Amino acid sequence: MQTRIAEIAAGLYRLSTFVPEVAAPAGFTFNQFLVLGDEPLLFHTGFRRMFPLVRDAVARILPPERLRWIAFGHYEADECGAMNEWLAVAPRAEVAHGQTACLVSLNDMADRAPRILADGEVLDIGGRRLRYLDTPHIPHGWEAGVMFEETTGTLLCGDLFTQAGDGPALTEGDVVGPAIAAEDLFRYSSLNPGMGATIRRLAALAPRTLALMHGPSFAGDGAAALGALAADYDRRVGAAMA
Ligand SMILES: [Fe+2]
Ligand SMILES: [Fe+2]
Repeated sequence: MQTRIAEIAAGLYRLSTFVPEVAAPAGFTFNQFLVLGDEPLLFHTGFRRMFPLVRDAVARILPPERLRWIAFGHYEADECGAMNEWLAVAPRAEVAHGQTACLVSLNDMADRAPRILADGEVLDIGGRRLRYLDTPHIPHGWEAGVMFEETTGTLLCGDLFTQAGDGPALTEGDVVGPAIAAEDLFRYSSLNPGMGATIRRLAALAPRTLALMHGPSFAGDGAAALGALAADYDRRVGAAMA
């Protein structure tokens, strides 16, 4: 396994590890995003067992001990399995997440106390601002949330738009169709009546880049893609309720 690095927006790096055994035969990518600033932030740590791979990839961009913030979509191994390894290697690093994640899991599971972010709160990392947004149960996990990097208009959207396969680092092509196909395959989302509204709230940010945890990053009309994804979840919820 190797971790590939691509700058998907100015000063925002995608670290991508393709694992052919997951969701075979297509395979599956696990992506972390390193956001540069005076206080660099890593969105997703990767699995605990993947830590050496991701640490070495980060080290090609900056000294790992400089990392200041660790954030992620929700509390699962691929999102934050290496959280404590990162806290050990970067002495000034803090985990930052929403109130639910901190109170339910991170206050106990993180080796240092996490920074609690309110819904809509901005984390200033020095030269950049990241807005944290609660997205409870979307696509899964009560504690789920996303971050919006305001300088480049990049939505760090976690498991939203998950797709199988190993595409390019950055695409201007369709990311909605592959996401719908992956939902049909994995059933990974917690279908709930609030899904469409929550995803449309993200569309209101009008992101220019969507940073997918599992799949290529998307450059283009993020609002349209999010609107189409919301419509598909409305359809699924409607069908489930019928
Ligand atoms: Fe997940
Ligand atoms: Fe994930």
